Amino acid sequence: MDQTQKKFRLRSQRWFDDPEDPGMTALYIERFLNFGMTRGELQSGKPIIGIAQTGSDIAPCNRHHLALAERVKAGIRDAGGIPLEFPIHPIQETGKRPTAALDRNLAYLSLVEVLHGYPLDGVVLTTGCDKTTPACLMGAATVNIPALVLSGGPMLDGHWKGKLSGSGTIVWEARKRLAAGELNYDSFMQMVASSATSIGHCNTMGTALSMNSLAEALGMSLPGCASIPAAYRERGQMAHATGMRIVEMVKENLRPSDIMTREAFENTIVLASAIGASSNCPPHLVAIARHMGVELTTEDWQTIGADIPLLVDCQPAGRFLGEMFYRGGGVQSVMKELADAGKLHTGVRTATGKTLAEDLAQAPEPDRQVIRPYAEPLKTHAGFVVLSGNIFDSAVMKVSVIDAEFRKRFLSNPEDVFEGKVIVFEGPEDYHDRIEDPDLGVDERSVLVIRNCGPVGYPGSAEVVNMQPPGALIKAGLDALPTMGDGRQSGTSASPSILNVSPEAAVGGGLALLKTGDPIRINLKTRKVDLLIPAEEMEARRAAWTPPKLQHKTPWEEIYRSMVGQLGTGGCLEPATLYLNILETRGES
Ligand code: FES
Ligand code: MG
Repeated sequence: MDQTQKKFRLRSQRWFDDPEDPGMTALYIERFLNFGMTRGELQSGKPIIGIAQTGSDIAPCNRHHLALAERVKAGIRDAGGIPLEFPIHPIQETGKRPTAALDRNLAYLSLVEVLHGYPLDGVVLTTGCDKTTPACLMGAATVNIPALVLSGGPMLDGHWKGKLSGSGTIVWEARKRLAAGELNYDSFMQMVASSATSIGHCNTMGTALSMNSLAEALGMSLPGCASIPAAYRERGQMAHATGMRIVEMVKENLRPSDIMTREAFENTIVLASAIGASSNCPPHLVAIARHMGVELTTEDWQTIGADIPLLVDCQPAGRFLGEMFYRGGGVQSVMKELADAGKLHTGVRTATGKTLAEDLAQAPEPDRQVIRPYAEPLKTHAGFVVLSGNIFDSAVMKVSVIDAEFRKRFLSNPEDVFEGKVIVFEGPEDYHDRIEDPDLGVDERSVLVIRNCGPVGYPGSAEVVNMQPPGALIKAGLDALPTMGDGRQSGTSASPSILNVSPEAAVGGGLALLKTGDPIRINLKTRKVDLLIPAEEMEARRAAWTPPKLQHKTPWEEIYRSMVGQLGTGGCLEPATLYLNILETRGES
């Protein structure tokens, strides 16, 4: 046993090796022997490392973690630890009804209980599909036990008729072509499925690849982890290295609070802008920070991230997919570019135990097709714009996906102002029922608004704000309109919507007061969205408003709705944010 080990007793020894309580020690140990473990192993003083397993048959994006866990276990054993794999609540983005977002906080809770209640000294977090990454990081933050992320990696690049076909992004394209009558049912299905080539998560810079990149930028995975495609041999090698490193992290007592500092979160926002990250990242990162006890707000995305340029040429903001992002250098190369431009705090510590500057000295040479030099970006000022106004406190808009066509059509004057009238939908069902109705009067001055889609309203907050215009307008060449809503949109969407409007309509946010035909002004320069109706009229509508009757379909929906906050503050279970660093404060370490 070396000096560092002597300084503190392993937490797991309170279960497996407590000389003062042989009765309980025997009870804790005996059941772990029943599959062949020995008392010698459990009482060896070796760190016991959990592997939080997010993969299963109903979570295909993360399913290969079942196989990767074997390489993690080998790494843990090779470094002198003992692995114990356990499941956490599965979350699959596209398969869960009403929405996977409802389950992020449930998986978070389940992970907190396991990490707090079982004899674990550290944990490997297997991440991938959208919500699995924030759920795992939130749980590790609350418990503050040594933790290391192992990303699952993106699927191999997809192709459709000779062109790259990226997860999600191809769906939006295919839906438009279906609506325009250019595809039949079979070819529509084939086109959508063409992006799902292999094991792995979405291969676009959607929420999955974005959040795994953010985990690496935070310093919570080994350098280079996020972008390795799931099917590459390097993924298995990274799994082994991750298993080895977590054992060392336990010995060094290197914990999430040492890594996920305010400076690390600031670095992560900068990285998010440069990669063209998903619009789901602001609420997830704010949630992780809150559970870590770090002050971070949605407004920080504006102050820290809005002026950062887009450096990575990946869909939906650019051209390429996960394989090219990986071969082009991945997160480390982008961070090196940002660090050289003076945009990062390079003194922060990462999971390697070294500083970011030391890690970045090993960054791969970037392939300039995919990762641009800081001085020659794909777009300048490419981060999220954070908006507010007389109908909401905060909303985000992903500027990196505003294309020249959209800018010319809707923001032609130098003030970046759009004025039009709102067309209001009560939710996705209402939108689908009425969008083709000619009496709605949708035209190029319309803003499509969707409400009742926030955390409480939906519940969970739905990815529905990127509504497409009626088929007749698409056929006439108008394939996008400004949209706004209290829900979210898929990170794979290239729609410059006004998203995550907080507070949401269901809790009395201003969106609840809108009526179809109301005039609205969106000013991207001043970051204001204002409803242009008299204040007295607003007051009268507010006085007449009654909260919607919420229909809970499961017990969790009711519990979730009673505790969840708004997207602008991370959509957290509010009581849970008060439990910080629980191993230490509860005398468990
Ligand atoms: Fe799971 Fe995209 S749906 S990663
Ligand atoms: Mg999604």
